[in-house]
Amino acid sequence: MINTQDTMMTVVDPLPARLGQVEALLAGRVDANRSPLEAGLARLIAAGGKRLRPRLALLSGSLFGAEPGPLLYLAAAVEMLHTASLVHDDLVDGAGLRRGVETLNARWSAAASVLVGDFAFTQAAQLALATRCLPAIDLFTESMRRMVDGELTQLARPHGISSRAEYFDWIRAKTAALFELAVGAPALLAESGGEITAAARDFGAALGMAFQVMDDVLDFTGETSSLGKPAGQDLCQGVLTLPALIHFEAHPADSGLRALVEREPLPAAELERLVAAIRRGEAVAGAVEEARGFVSRGLEALSRLPEGPERLALAELAGSIIDRDN
Ligand code: IPE
Ligand code: IPE
Ligand code: MG
Ligand code: MG
Repeated sequence: MINTQDTMMTVVDPLPARLGQVEALLAGRVDANRSPLEAGLARLIAAGGKRLRPRLALLSGSLFGAEPGPLLYLAAAVEMLHTASLVHDDLVDGAGLRRGVETLNARWSAAASVLVGDFAFTQAAQLALATRCLPAIDLFTESMRRMVDGELTQLARPHGISSRAEYFDWIRAKTAALFELAVGAPALLAESGGEITAAARDFGAALGMAFQVMDDVLDFTGETSSLGKPAGQDLCQGVLTLPALIHFEAHPADSGLRALVEREPLPAAELERLVAAIRRGEAVAGAVEEARGFVSRGLEALSRLPEGPERLALAELAGSIIDRDN
């Protein structure tokens, strides 16, 4: 296991400068003057976000000694892919706020939001192509396929998610695949060996699992103001995530949760009762425990990677996934 306690203090972080270059690549892909819709996408990109995926990519690439140019393109490609998925996700979820700014779907039609999302996907693909690294491009398209496939599978299911196994399959596809890409593709850029690449991918995937579990916890425990997106929405939209599933395991006779599994609509008062019960009970702590488990698994994979300041920074980043409020 890796101890990050004091060592982090000695690491000189070269990240901000390289992240600035990634920002420039992202901004250069979108021309706010061309149309109000493109301006909407530019606003979403400029609103920032945590930039977790490009951070992971830059640290991973630096650890493996990837060439700086292709690495910057890759980091930007992963963030652009994430941004595209957010545009479509907010349309699907009917969300009005993202990164503290109005979503595209709040202002424009569904058709416009789909097309802006598509535009961002094509920009992501072009950034990935600019790496000129076929194995990394291959992983990029495979991650995109898994992400979309995960969402389609979830949509096509005759009933809502009702078990931890189904939930984990879903988030492995929709979220962990992108984290796996962010950490794994830089190993491919650097032509690292198979074992190193596999460990990098395992670390990224485990981190992605922890990240989505905590996102789903924060939907119950967080505030819209700090999240910059609507809190308390998942259950109200009939989406069963880990806290709800753990609550369901403890209360299998709960008729409200049963109805949600059957995809039956529930009255607002009944939804509020359920959200309050989940917030009060043990389910949130149980979900955080699962997230911690994924972080531990990630750290085990990380310990198979070469030592270096970047590995320490990656370990610190993994820990910060649990203790975040946005
Ligand atoms: C939101 O991701 C989508 C999920 C996978 C939960 P982030 O929380 O990383 O979003 P930004 O980029 O910081 O806004
Ligand atoms: C993640 O799930 C969505 C994507 C992978 C695009 P959520 O729907 O929980 O993400 P947020 O909470 O809207 O950011
Ligand atoms: Mg959403
Ligand atoms: Mg969420």
